[in-house]
Amino acid sequence: MTKINIAIDGPAGAGKSTVAKTAASKLQYVYIDTGAMYRALAWAALNHNADIQDEAFLSSLLRRTNIELQPSEDGNRVFVNNEEVTGAIRSNEVTAAVSDVSAHAGVREQMVNKQKELAAGKGAVLDGRDIGTTVLPEAELKVYLIASVEERAKRRHLENIEKGLRSELQMMQKDIQARDEKDAGREISPLIKAEDAVEIDTTNLSIPETADRICELAEERIRKS
Ligand code: C5P
Repeated sequence: MTKINIAIDGPAGAGKSTVAKTAASKLQYVYIDTGAMYRALAWAALNHNADIQDEAFLSSLLRRTNIELQPSEDGNRVFVNNEEVTGAIRSNEVTAAVSDVSAHAGVREQMVNKQKELAAGKGAVLDGRDIGTTVLPEAELKVYLIASVEERAKRRHLENIEKGLRSELQMMQKDIQARDEKDAGREISPLIKAEDAVEIDTTNLSIPETADRICELAEERIRKS
């Protein structure tokens, strides 16, 4: 059967990664968590005590760093130069740094090229901020997930608690709003809905409901392609 590529974009906490992972597994597609790639670089930068505003250093660090995603039941396992950082890239420190790290043109250019390569064989579900607009503008299906800030903060808060991380609901809401503003306000590839993306509001939808909707849309596009 023909395989297509699926781009899933949206703000932090809209449910992208869980939904993308679930849809990919139902369709037997590869799931690629592009946010994890930016988080891996932010982790490496913090490890080097780097100035996260230093574009030249971060671009050169990325050229020297091997970031690998491996599929697993729980999404992507992430490795930096063969060291597993799957849990470490979700820390509050990395989360606070990642939007600044990902705003640099020299970083984005390399990341986008890697992501295009990963999706070249089709049959991939990528989630991020610029997948439908920049990484895969030709993707057969583009989805833009949204949810209220309150709901998104609540989801991240519960996720953190489950993982045993420190978390405070009000802080979470502030962090999410700050990250939204940075991601949507940056000059290069800002978070924006692609014109031809299907918008789904997940505020009152469960993960399986949203994933089912995406699979239905995918099957429709596969039939047409
Ligand atoms: O998806 P997640 O919240 O893990 O992404 C972490 C950060 O990585 C985002 O806040 C954003 O700054 C950056 N990102 C990006 N482009 C992508 C995916 C993530 O700029 N395609």
